[in-house]
Amino acid sequence: MRILLINGPNLNLLGTRNPEVYGSMTLADIVERVRQRGEQLGAEIVPFQANAEGAIIDFIQTNAPGADGILINAGAFTHYSLAIRDAFEAVGKPFVEVHISNVHAREEFRHHSVLADIAVAQVAGLGWRGYIAALDSLVGILKERQ
Ligand code: DQA
Repeated sequence: MRILLINGPNLNLLGTRNPEVYGSMTLADIVERVRQRGEQLGAEIVPFQANAEGAIIDFIQTNAPGADGILINAGAFTHYSLAIRDAFEAVGKPFVEVHISNVHAREEFRHHSVLADIAVAQVAGLGWRGYIAALDSLVGILKERQ
């Protein structure tokens, strides 16, 4: 089973970016933990990070056809990128939306996601563990469908 792990803008700064909100783990630390959990579950993890919307869309278009599912923390694009939403609709692969922080307890503009209604689920507020929770659930759901 192959799972794409996509992180959007500013998530490359994890570890130093607002640690009181996002914690002290770096993106490399998180990717490694997800990779290890994937290994336990029999899932290959394909990680990708970009700050640019077009790069994320290109990655989805190129890699989703060969993948079983997707985990994405789209960062601020979550709240307004209809182009990323369209890319998910076009490839038709199940994805889980992940947020490190509880977006619903923050500024109003973070409460709305343009991805959530076409996602399998949204995970928010569990810190880095949200990626693991999302992976566990997505792999479980995909195995049940097989
Ligand atoms: C985030 C929440 C977004 O609102 C924000 O723009 C991010 C990170 C999170 O992981 O909590 O960049 O997706």
